[in-house]
Amino acid sequence: MDGATDEIKVSFTVNRKAVEIVCSSDATLLEVLRDQLRLTGTKHGCGVGECGACTVILNGKAVNSCLILAGSVEGQEVLTIEGLAEDDLHPIQRAFIEEGAVQCGYCTPGMILSAKALLDENPAPSQEEVKVAISGNLCRCTGYHQIVSAILKASQEIAGRG
Ligand code: FES
Ligand code: FES
Repeated sequence: MDGATDEIKVSFTVNRKAVEIVCSSDATLLEVLRDQLRLTGTKHGCGVGECGACTVILNGKAVNSCLILAGSVEGQEVLTIEGLAEDDLHPIQRAFIEEGAVQCGYCTPGMILSAKALLDENPAPSQEEVKVAISGNLCRCTGYHQIVSAILKASQEIAGRG
């Protein structure tokens, strides 16, 4: 064995746009997003599924992209932080700014996408449900209080619009 890996072609949707990439069969979704598609808002933290910095939304669910083989997303839909804001900042992004929930910012894209997956499924979560939803996302800076407040504030704002 020389350790060489096969190249594969993968077609999927990222931020509502169809993409087709060629990557090695052992490339992770995180590597493809950052290194090939230049979507560097998705962060590389631990690389082993423990920090949540690499969180993206795959078919509506928040997942750790460092644990997903790019080859397994054929035909699926991925949303990264770059695809969240359309014309204006998303209410979750605005609430993070207003509540002081962004400090170094390294955890922020992953936190926001975990929050979005939660609010899409459960638009009026309790504080406890918010804590559970972000339990896989580590933040070394904020102590989580501002993050939880921001997500609750965003849920109210979204409810108020609906
Ligand atoms: S980089 Fe994926 S969970 Fe830490
Ligand atoms: S704001 Fe720095 S890790 Fe969360």
